[in-house]
Amino acid sequence: MTTARNVFTVVQISDPHLGLQPGPIRTGYPDSDAQLAAVLDDALRHQGDADLALVTGDLAEDPVPAVYQRLIGHLARLPAPMLALAGNHDDRGIARDAFVGAGHGFEGERVLGDWLVIGLDSCWPGHTAGWVQKPELERLADSIERHPGHWVLVAVHHPLVRVGSRWLDRLTLTNGDEVLAALARHPRVRACIFGHIHQGYDAMHGSIRLLGCPSTLVQFLPEAADFALEPVESGYRVLRLHHDGSVETELRRVPGTRPTGLPA
Ligand SMILES: [Fe+2]
Repeated sequence: MTTARNVFTVVQISDPHLGLQPGPIRTGYPDSDAQLAAVLDDALRHQGDADLALVTGDLAEDPVPAVYQRLIGHLARLPAPMLALAGNHDDRGIARDAFVGAGHGFEGERVLGDWLVIGLDSCWPGHTAGWVQKPELERLADSIERHPGHWVLVAVHHPLVRVGSRWLDRLTLTNGDEVLAALARHPRVRACIFGHIHQGYDAMHGSIRLLGCPSTLVQFLPEAADFALEPVESGYRVLRLHHDGSVETELRRVPGTRPTGLPA
C-alpha cells in the first residue's frame, strides 16, 4: 500500500488498572481514574492528531464489564482509533467484548500507510507471567506475510526480555525467546512495544527495537530485586513511524501525576 503520508503517530497507553469504582485500588495509591485522565489530558494536548492509540493491557484491576465500559469512556476522549490488549489482570473475553462492542480494535491488526501494527495476546490464564500461544505466533507470521510491503510494529502486554528487576523478570514472557525468534525471521519487524513493567525500557535485539512503557497509575522501581515503587510521574509513549521504516519515540512524563504517600 502506498500513501502520501510519510509519518504516522502512535500513542501507547498502558496499565491503567481501573478498579470497581474510581479511587485508589490499594492504600496509598493515587486514584487510577484521575491518573489516567491526567495522562489522556496530556496526550490530547500534545498528540491530539495521533493516528492510533495502543492500550497495552492491565486495563482493569477488577475485570468486570462495567470497569471496561468506564475505561472505554475515558479512552474515547482521544480522537484516534484504538487497539487494546489484555494483560494478566484482565479478563480477556470480557475486555474484548467491551472494546469490540464499542467499535474499537482488540488484538488483531491495523494498517497505517506502509506500516502494519499487530496486537499480540500474551495472557496465560491463571498466571502473572505471559505466554504467547502457538496460534498467536501463527497469526503473527500470517499477518506479516499478507502485508509484504509493510514495516511492522508489534504490541504485546508482557516484555519479551528480562528488564533487570529480579522479581519482575520472573513474571515476564515465558517463551520470550521463541517470540523474539519468530519476529527476527521477518526483517520488516522494526519494533515491539509492551507494558507490564510499569517503567520505560529501550533496547535493541538485532534490528528490533524493544520498548517498555510506564503505567498511567504507579511506576515500578527499575533494577529492584524485590517489588518496589518509584515515586515518579506517570507517562505514556509516543512513536512516530516513518515511511523508510525508522521509528522515533519519546516517553512523556505527565506533570502532576507523581504519587505522594505510596506504601513503603
Ligand atoms: Fe500492570
